[in-house]
Amino acid sequence: MNEKKLVGEKAAEFIKDGMVVGLGTGSTVYYTIIKLGQLVKEGLTIQGIPTSVRTEELAKKVGIPLVSFKEIGQIDVAIDGADEVDSNLDLIKGGGGALLREKIIANAAKQFIVVATPNKMVKKLGGFQLPVEVVPFGAELTEKHISKLGIDPIFRQFEGNPYRTDNGNYIFDCDISGILQPKELEEKLNMIPGVVENGLFINMSDIVISLDHEKNVVLINKR
Ligand code: 5RP
Repeated sequence: MNEKKLVGEKAAEFIKDGMVVGLGTGSTVYYTIIKLGQLVKEGLTIQGIPTSVRTEELAKKVGIPLVSFKEIGQIDVAIDGADEVDSNLDLIKGGGGALLREKIIANAAKQFIVVATPNKMVKKLGGFQLPVEVVPFGAELTEKHISKLGIDPIFRQFEGNPYRTDNGNYIFDCDISGILQPKELEEKLNMIPGVVENGLFINMSDIVISLDHEKNVVLINKR
């Protein structure tokens, strides 16, 4: 059984005619996008707004019409994956490097739906290293400021070169396992000059779609 497909496809049921839909990035929301492409072929009328170049290419391939922020008033629903989800439905995101555009789009959406297989569900955030996006200028200095928060930034590499986001920035993956207050950390990180955004999504998710022990799809709502 493909768990990602089960939760990813379920999210497509929330999308109705006329909606503007934020399209997330990753291997779980991939199945949402494929399903939405099928539904568009069957007559569903939506407009998508992608969170990454990869997602833009996928959405075009499956025939989802795309819009830009210039053309829309609001986003009705954003759907995205996560690297970790805690019991408050707070998230770590950005394993795939798309955290900045993902946060802009989730923040602009009336409803933010997260698709997460059971292995993503945790008691406490921090088992997954927190991605922090920084501008290349002065990145060495920015790294020192991040370290002063008591976390250890690891410079993300790809095939032996510095990893670059779709925005041309670098990423530091940070061990935050000792951090008790994710909201405070989110704010402190974003106050460092040079930090563009970090992958803590606090108080943003409305619904998480996951699976129970018997592999039934479950909807977890914000309490
Ligand atoms: C990309 C993300 C993804 O949503 C996250 O990494 C989960 O991806 P996947 O569904 O492939 O596990 O934040 O920046």
